[in-house]
Amino acid sequence: MDAVQKLIQDLMERGILIEPSAFDFIKQHNIPPDKIYSLKIEEGVLTRKHLEPLIGGVGCEGRRDENENMGNTSNLLAFVEIVRKKKRAIAEEYDFSVVVENKETNNGEISQKGVEIFVEMFKDRYERLRDLLVQRAELRNAISIGRLKDARNLEGEVVVIGLVRTKTKTKSGSYILELEDPTGVVSVFVREEASKLAEYVVEDEVIGVRGTFNGNFLYASNIVFPDIPIPTGVNKVKDPVAAVFISDLHYGSKQFIVDIERRFLRWINDKNDELASKVKYIFIAGDLVDGIGIYPEQEDDLLIKDIYNQYELLERFIERIPEHIAVVLCPGNHDAVRSAEPQPPIPKDFVPNLYSMSNIFMATNPAYVRIHAMDGEKGVLVLMYHGYSFTSMIDAMTPIRKHGTTHPQYVMREILKKRHLAPTYGCVIQVPYPKDQLVIDKVPDIFHTGDLHSHGVDNYKGVTLISSSTFQGQTAFMDRVGHVANPGKITVVELNTRDVRVLDFYGG
Ligand SMILES: [Fe+2]
Repeated sequence: MDAVQKLIQDLMERGILIEPSAFDFIKQHNIPPDKIYSLKIEEGVLTRKHLEPLIGGVGCEGRRDENENMGNTSNLLAFVEIVRKKKRAIAEEYDFSVVVENKETNNGEISQKGVEIFVEMFKDRYERLRDLLVQRAELRNAISIGRLKDARNLEGEVVVIGLVRTKTKTKSGSYILELEDPTGVVSVFVREEASKLAEYVVEDEVIGVRGTFNGNFLYASNIVFPDIPIPTGVNKVKDPVAAVFISDLHYGSKQFIVDIERRFLRWINDKNDELASKVKYIFIAGDLVDGIGIYPEQEDDLLIKDIYNQYELLERFIERIPEHIAVVLCPGNHDAVRSAEPQPPIPKDFVPNLYSMSNIFMATNPAYVRIHAMDGEKGVLVLMYHGYSFTSMIDAMTPIRKHGTTHPQYVMREILKKRHLAPTYGCVIQVPYPKDQLVIDKVPDIFHTGDLHSHGVDNYKGVTLISSSTFQGQTAFMDRVGHVANPGKITVVELNTRDVRVLDFYGG
């Protein structure tokens, strides 16, 4: 590297660009680098004006030979361009904008209130999902279950909306549902034409049913889920920035795959990689560490047995991500917060360094996160949920039971249709609040989950579905619960096009 190249590089590293006329001026007047370094350049661009006061000063003579190695201006400009590309990521040209809409968690304290609060929460779930269902054309004439007795006098079909209290399968393979609303309970016999839909019905979700009523049974010919509407457009952003989606890092596990971490960090720091250079946001959907005592005999699977040391490794990882990138983290069932949902953000005690960094955002599980809403634009809305309910929900829906854990996009579609992240009571421990915190009341642009350690990407009615992979290999515990790890997959969404790219930092 000759003298001028070193000068340019040094200035670039200090965040200073050099105007072409300033190069000529330096060459013409043979200005020594130490004089240039002493200049105060507040705007970040070295101009001829900065240099003019230096002419004739001591040290400007007798350096002709070195100056001649500087080359002509066009060569210098080419070099500036190379250095600039190398030193500035595309995403550095833009600010980040992150608005985290956390769920109610009472700072992690669980309320001691009795059964009334559960009743209130289920009533809220019923009412909000009913309000969505009545907008569906098939359900517009819905009546309350209590009014069904009058329907015996009605000719034709009736429509009711209710919460599924039970679902049973008869010996002949038919489904019978018990449906309830605040006015009563009705038994629903699912006719052949609706039996395929009944396979997706799970207990405690809210559905609409159309059929005929004979005084005892409602014979259902159609079942309607709340679902999400057909999109009118796709939300994008103007700036050429991207978001990365990962989860289930499991720091502290013996099965943690260091090579994935190393390759990810090398990539995210590579400003010559166009896609990496665009990354402005990173989402990490829980299981940040492997935790302690999460399942029996976990100690045998731990490389790091101190939870604080596990989180220190997480901090070292995040600190090596360029600081122009905003990182959003939520907990999972392995993290050091209550496992009952909604889970509060990881407390400061465990990650004090992350709390002191302005580019780090701590979220509840689940949480809505709006990113890059700039200049009056809506930005992109991400629904982040670790996904602990998914194993039970896959098991409850026979059509996806066989391949659901290796194709998590299947359950994600159904969860969006149900408009609830964990419908069946007991599939997660849900902390009761007067407002059901797990209802999907807003349709996200991106639905991001983890937990299953497999990887899936899909699009459902305009919503990008991303089930993240993991940094952890297969464990004996995963063998027991039937999960198959597919580690090292990194999902990237270009927010200005909504194109989705998947990188493989393990097998690829
Ligand atoms: Fe996990």
